[in-house]
Amino acid sequence: MDLLNELESLVPELERGSGQAFSLAELEELRVAFLGRKGRLAHIMSHLPGLEPEQRPAVGQKANEIKARLTAIVDARRQELEAAKEAAALARFDASLPGRAPWAGSLHPTTLVQEEICAIFGRLGYDVATGPEVENDYYNFEALNMPPEHPARDMQDTLYITEKVLMRTHTSPMQVRTMLSRKPPLAVVVPGKVYRRDSDLTHTPMFHQVEGLMVGEKVSFAHLRGTLTAFLRAVFGADTQVRFRPSFFPFTEPSAEVDISCCMCGGHGHVNGEPCRVCKTTGWVEILGCGMIDPAVFDSVGYDPKSISGFAFGLGVERIAMLKYGIGDLRMFFENDVRFLSQFV
Ligand code: DAH
Repeated sequence: MDLLNELESLVPELERGSGQAFSLAELEELRVAFLGRKGRLAHIMSHLPGLEPEQRPAVGQKANEIKARLTAIVDARRQELEAAKEAAALARFDASLPGRAPWAGSLHPTTLVQEEICAIFGRLGYDVATGPEVENDYYNFEALNMPPEHPARDMQDTLYITEKVLMRTHTSPMQVRTMLSRKPPLAVVVPGKVYRRDSDLTHTPMFHQVEGLMVGEKVSFAHLRGTLTAFLRAVFGADTQVRFRPSFFPFTEPSAEVDISCCMCGGHGHVNGEPCRVCKTTGWVEILGCGMIDPAVFDSVGYDPKSISGFAFGLGVERIAMLKYGIGDLRMFFENDVRFLSQFV
């Protein structure tokens, strides 16, 4: 029974061969050589028709048994090789390495500075209020002591919606709205967007301001000075020098503009012998406008200027952010380049 022996001998041969197959591709080659259509098993079976009819069933049965055993050998080796491959991949994987941090985003520098400003005044007892960006001429100008034809309206290039409705040019209209809706004593800060017909290297049609307002009995210019000095030192550092220069705004009297010692050159006017580009060698930078609320504004909200006084101030948020972070170009705030924005956390 040669065929039966031949069939039986395939098993140890494949066992030996599969033990030397070290890749799935090698194993597949082996499988085809033994079990494929032109493989060893098929070759042996091609002799079946030459056998005596009564011998064929025994050989056919043996062939089926051998085919099952050969298949089992290949499958077992395949599992071994796959397990080894996985183990090798796991060996390269270091579970103790730190993971990739999720990308969380960050707040815009304008938002950060605006929140910081409101937080500082919050600690001084101020409330935060917000108001409409589309505003009536009355609140934006008239109630702030700027009647129609008043020349001070030209200080701000206004975006009009209708003759009487406009995009607010400053946060100061909230002085009027706040005083109309509350009773003194009151202290509020108002952050928000303002709009002007202005667009060049140092002006954008929209920017952010924070308005401040404190009204009560015997509120004096000394309070204004103390408050703003404390505020500016909280933002720019305790060594910051603060000076008040006489100025003019229609809604305050007296009015002042406030300068701080330049945070780029420390007030020296030069950095490493070079003229300071931030303060243009003066050692000072202008930071905000302020003053004592004009009696005409109190009149328009029905407060009695004889028993009530107050101060107000207004500042530009982007300007403070530029000085605080040393940002040289206003356009950075509006281009929304993530490489720029993600530096502020
Ligand atoms: N509203 C002024 C502006 O946008 C800034 C300002 C100046 C606000 C003096 C004030 C103030 O409250 O008292 O230019």
